[in-house]
Amino acid sequence: MQTIYGNTRGLAPSDLQALERIYRRKVPFEQLLTPELTRSLAEVSHQTGRQVGVLVDRKGVVDFVIVGDATTLWLPDFGRLRAAHGRFRGLRLIHTHLTPEGLTRDDLVDLTRLRLDLVAAICLARDGRPMTVHYAHNVPVPDGSNEAPYETVGPIPYGKLDVNPAQIVTALEEEFARQRKVRAVEAKDGRAILVHVASKRDALGVEDSLRELEELARTAGVEVADTVLQLRERVDPKFVAGRGKLDEIVLRAMQLDVEVLIFDRDLTPAQSAALARVTDLKILDRTQLILDIFAQRAESRDGKLQVELAQMKYLLPRLGAKDDSLSRLTGGIGGRGPGETKLEIGRRRARERIQRLSAELKKLGKQRKQRRSRRARRGVPIVSIVGYTNAGKSTLLNTLTQSDVLAEDKLFATLDTRSRRIRFPREREVVITDTVGFIRDLPKELFAAFRATFEEAQDADLLLHVVDVSDPCLSDHMRTTDEILGKLELAQVPRLVVFNKADLLPAGEGARVAASRDGVAVSALDRDSLTPLLREIEARLYPDGEGELLPPEPEEEAWGEGDEAPSDHGRWDEELPDAELPDEEPADEELPDEELPDEEPAGAGRVERVEA
Ligand code: GTP
Repeated sequence: MQTIYGNTRGLAPSDLQALERIYRRKVPFEQLLTPELTRSLAEVSHQTGRQVGVLVDRKGVVDFVIVGDATTLWLPDFGRLRAAHGRFRGLRLIHTHLTPEGLTRDDLVDLTRLRLDLVAAICLARDGRPMTVHYAHNVPVPDGSNEAPYETVGPIPYGKLDVNPAQIVTALEEEFARQRKVRAVEAKDGRAILVHVASKRDALGVEDSLRELEELARTAGVEVADTVLQLRERVDPKFVAGRGKLDEIVLRAMQLDVEVLIFDRDLTPAQSAALARVTDLKILDRTQLILDIFAQRAESRDGKLQVELAQMKYLLPRLGAKDDSLSRLTGGIGGRGPGETKLEIGRRRARERIQRLSAELKKLGKQRKQRRSRRARRGVPIVSIVGYTNAGKSTLLNTLTQSDVLAEDKLFATLDTRSRRIRFPREREVVITDTVGFIRDLPKELFAAFRATFEEAQDADLLLHVVDVSDPCLSDHMRTTDEILGKLELAQVPRLVVFNKADLLPAGEGARVAASRDGVAVSALDRDSLTPLLREIEARLYPDGEGELLPPEPEEEAWGEGDEAPSDHGRWDEELPDAELPDEEPADEELPDEELPDEEPAGAGRVERVEA
């Protein structure tokens, strides 16, 4: 017995039998309808007073028979699996309308949402005879255009119907494929629509929040095709946005060739699942986006494991209950899965993986502690750079050490703590470490995962809190950083606020802000501007002139053999800034095995890099 989908309640056994017989019909791809299929659909529809439809594949086989009510047909949830035919799903919907009306909005949303080959409605007369046919198919829409992503045709008198779906669909798929290729070059990891839904009470700050989400998306390598904002009396508990808005978003997604919706909030597992079901698009929330960035950027073994653990923990409640069920929600952007490897995974395997990751991380944590205590014993002062994401931490470290830690105008360019040393005059040296950037509303899953990254900052003698002095949200960012430092148990470490990007403000303005907040103004892009900062660092680390902190141990012990001896840099007050900064490329560190980072980023070998 074959399943009849939809609204079968109250149907007579004879109706059900008639519906089942429809499965025997065949409709060649080259024909929109056959007289036999039309007759079968019209008869049952007339008999039951309900819309009746079929989904036919390209081989001509009827895959689904569906019954609706007098005005609507609800399609079964047949999953997101794309047909092997490329752009479309390889199914066309043919159904009856009991009135002469053309295709409804529901019909068109289904067409685009499900990437159907085509949707056709046969309008029946009162006596059940087929009168006219309407049909619609998807069409590619130029970028930035507001045209509808479909084309409707009809009414065509039933007797005059001469449509070849195979021809239409093949031509369209070629056109879509061509557009896709062009876009694939532009957008490496796909395109997304960003969706922000807020209650009217929370309307304040919406723009900032969306801008930040856009930044995050860009950092994740996503091309933002559009952003959608909806303010409602209250956020819908099930679908977040209103159903009408979601329909609009689905049409927009089709228009823009988008497969991912990114919500500017955290979604519950139930909301993610409900949204994926009704839109048939990949749904990501803010936490997943941040995790995705972390997954792409983490470099050390430790960092990678931490990110994967966080992703797994976040995904676990979102996975299907059965071990063999593959989740639609597991993949990241552009098909990346947790740790950029596994795309789909069952719950049991996820649990096992979480256990294994936790055990491995524990082991690595111990090693890290040992390394830290060794470093502490050496008496080399440690300076940690912390601050809001994109404040310019990596740039500052680069300029200070003239190395090339990844510095990009993207959020979270830094994920792993990197450590370098800088040499001060009088043979003083400090280890300076860059840390991952902070962000407001840092998801708690992430917080736990990245706590370990800041372990070494707890041993720091000085924190450089870098802020972007030109950012209108300066005070907010500083507050966020303060809060996070508190949670990381770093509040007690001496702190120096570095007001960066002073070059973006009128001359003197940065210095004024810095002075009012007891900090130093710099432009990390300009080495010359760092002199006061270097002086302040030295003053803070060596408050009583010489020797307050233990002097560095002999060179070979502290830095390994083969390292160059400290060069004869001059004093701050008598030398140009150039002389204060190392200008030669030092030899590679020779550290004991366990101190070497597991995976060096390309090109990092020539840079002074000390894993704390
Ligand atoms: P995360 O790794 O995301 O935490 O960022 P970060 O704080 O390390 O910032 P990064 O050094 O990557 O700098 C972010 C952007 O700001 C880059 O485009 C830098 O070129 C730019 N930038 C950094 N310092 C300055 C500055 O002093 N002036 C100006 N105009 N731009 C700067």
